[in-house]
Amino acid sequence: MSAITISGVTRRDLRRVLAIEEASFPDPWSDALLRGEIEMLSSRRYTKATVGRRVVGYLGLMFVDDEVHVNTLATDPEARGRGVATRLLLDGIDAALRLGGRHLTLEVAASNEGAQSLYRRFGLAPVGVRRGYYAGGEDAIVMWCRDLDSEHEVARRTGLAESLGSNS
Ligand SMILES: CC(C)(COP(=O)(O)OP(=O)(O)OC[C@H]1O[C@@H](n2cnc3c(N)ncnc32)[C@H](O)[C@@H]1OP(=O)(O)O)[C@@H](O)C(=O)NCCC(=O)NCCS
Repeated sequence: MSAITISGVTRRDLRRVLAIEEASFPDPWSDALLRGEIEMLSSRRYTKATVGRRVVGYLGLMFVDDEVHVNTLATDPEARGRGVATRLLLDGIDAALRLGGRHLTLEVAASNEGAQSLYRRFGLAPVGVRRGYYAGGEDAIVMWCRDLDSEHEVARRTGLAESLGSNS
């Protein structure tokens, strides 16, 4: 895959982002919800990954004090397994640190082993379960990574960035 570029999600990206959202989640966000999210500039950061002119993934972060929540993350099914989500998370964590974020957290479906394995590589560890969190009644695993700025976590992400190779 040719080079991946990361930039902010704008209204013009919404149609494509929604298509990826619908291909990725059993209970996808609506256009209105997503539009509202990208407009909350004071507490959100939505970024997209682009290859050429095509949007292939997106990440939504929410900031609460020094906590950074991963609100959403998805890659186009045709572009998975090539480091798109890894690139989005590396960029998002760097930006979060610059904006005063210190700890990272998220909820992930209990059955979503692929995403959990991606998150574990970023130092996120499971700390609890929210029973029936999702619309279909599935449980969510709550994951945290504390002290994103510690030497250990910085080294972990440097290793991840190096493993992506030069083409991504
Ligand atoms: C989870 C999800 C976002 C991962 O996106 P992705 O872009 O495929 O993620 P990455 O490519 O960065 O990493 C995925 C795998 O590709 C591998 N990979 C990363 N870069 C690679 C590269 N350059 N070459 C080959 N493989 C690579 C990773 O090692 C990883 O392997 P794993 O199977 O051991 O986890 C994607 O599967 C998705 O959109 N799923 C549906 C929505 C979802 O579950 N979102 C998370 C909600 S909490």
